[in-house]
Amino acid sequence: MKNAIIIFFVFALVGFGGGYLFSQSGSQEQATAPDNAATEQTQNTADDEKVEAPAPAVSPEGEIFNQKGCLACHSVENLGLQGGATGPDLSQAYVNVEGKHGKPINEFLKEPTSAVMSSVIGGNPLTDDEINKVVEALKIASEK
Ligand code: HEC
Repeated sequence: MKNAIIIFFVFALVGFGGGYLFSQSGSQEQATAPDNAATEQTQNTADDEKVEAPAPAVSPEGEIFNQKGCLACHSVENLGLQGGATGPDLSQAYVNVEGKHGKPINEFLKEPTSAVMSSVIGGNPLTDDEINKVVEALKIASEK
């Protein structure tokens, strides 16, 4: 019986602690923005992608930024993607990131060196395939 109580407390602590950490993970007010964006956008793509897709001139390769919620914080002007202003426009990220962050873009997306991106990726890692799509899209953007 005593054991059961102890086990209950351990689970409760882990649960609350995990919830707390998760709610802190994006820090400040952006904490929920990527999640909301991601859920809404996933639904949109499932249901009524064509009705919802607003902008003209959005290149199809930019879809990955929509899917992964990157647009909550980033625009990619060169792909016609308007997003939040929390993060920099990614149009030139393909050429910039290595100089700015000390590692090539595909490494950065796996293990970001910046605090905000670490928590974004930590909470919602990209698969290799998704990283390839992002890198490919940013390459195209940087060449426009
Ligand atoms: C919660 C907001 C937020 C979300 C969501 C987000 N980012 Fe970022 N990102 C930032 C911020 C802020 C920076 C700038 C960090 C710095 O310079 O230290 C950044 C930097 C970057 C950089 C480096 C660009 C540069 O010029 O320094 C890349 C590349 C990047 N993000 C890609 C992505 C991708 C891809 C996604 C979607 C999977 C994404 N980000 C989602 C906030 C976000």
